[in-house]
Amino acid sequence: MMKRIAVLTTGGDAPGMNPAIRSVVRCGLANNLEVMGVTRGWWGLINEDLKTMDHRSVSGIISQGGTVLKTARCAEFTTEEGQARAFNTVKKFGIDGLVVIGGNGSFFAAHKFGTKYNVPCIGIAASIDNDVNGVDVTIGYDTAINTALSAIDNIRDTATSMERIFVVEVMGRDCGIIALAVALAGGCEDVFIPERPVDLEASCHNIVQGNLIGKASWIIVAAEGAGKAEDFAKRITEMTSLETRAITLGHIQRGGRPTAFSRDLALKLGKAAVDALIAGEKDKAMGFTGGKVVSVDFEIATKKKVINTDDILKLIKTLT
Ligand code: F6P
Repeated sequence: MMKRIAVLTTGGDAPGMNPAIRSVVRCGLANNLEVMGVTRGWWGLINEDLKTMDHRSVSGIISQGGTVLKTARCAEFTTEEGQARAFNTVKKFGIDGLVVIGGNGSFFAAHKFGTKYNVPCIGIAASIDNDVNGVDVTIGYDTAINTALSAIDNIRDTATSMERIFVVEVMGRDCGIIALAVALAGGCEDVFIPERPVDLEASCHNIVQGNLIGKASWIIVAAEGAGKAEDFAKRITEMTSLETRAITLGHIQRGGRPTAFSRDLALKLGKAAVDALIAGEKDKAMGFTGGKVVSVDFEIATKKKVINTDDILKLIKTLT
């Protein structure tokens, strides 16, 4: 029977992690569970850095980006020794189940740890990249794309007024979901994503052709995994002789107040995670798919998410 659970956030922070923590803590307490908060993700479990959470420990965090529990990428947890130390903490503190708030890397680690030591782990899909397989929308994605979009809207003012080309680099090391979403919603002319080879010649040909008929400004969105904005801008200038500037949005996209959608999702997934642990479930992630909360086995959630890029790319081209 579940008596004491612990919650942690791991990997890159995502706006909405705090509302998710709030929901786990308060739903846990409402179900007469004791709830512990682990600091810096797996690191805290390895180093016994955890504390008892009460109702008020999550007061006022619903509107804050980042995570009050702090997060980290923990190389030590990939080692046998690190995992064994984490399991000692689980035993020592009498933790019956873990809620792991993070993305697919976090779920991969939770799957290995949970199955090896028979510790029930339930994930909550939170990542700005939205790259959790089997999940339509992760916590933080909506906030991140709105932040990137607002930056692109601002950049467009200069692009139009000064008749320039801009390459805007957005996050997405392995995945172009953010890039595609903001390129479409931002009315951008082109997008480079890691899922497809970049054809710079074709892009430059379009720019030059457009320029001949009076189109003087372009915004190209490049996902981080497709290449560096600086390099693209340099080559586009060389190939078109048109002034091209590079902007990297970087961690601006990871921070900030979670949107209503990211919060709503976080609060619902927090409850679902607690309910799942109480129901004796384990080794799965809570996510949002087909308009409702679903659970996805870690083994599936950690597979590469395949996205249909063709339709969005076609639409972006049609609307240019
Ligand atoms: O995991 C989300 C993400 O924002 C990726 O898009 C990006 O490549 C990475 O995190 C950056 O991580 P860090 O902040 O550790 O450099």
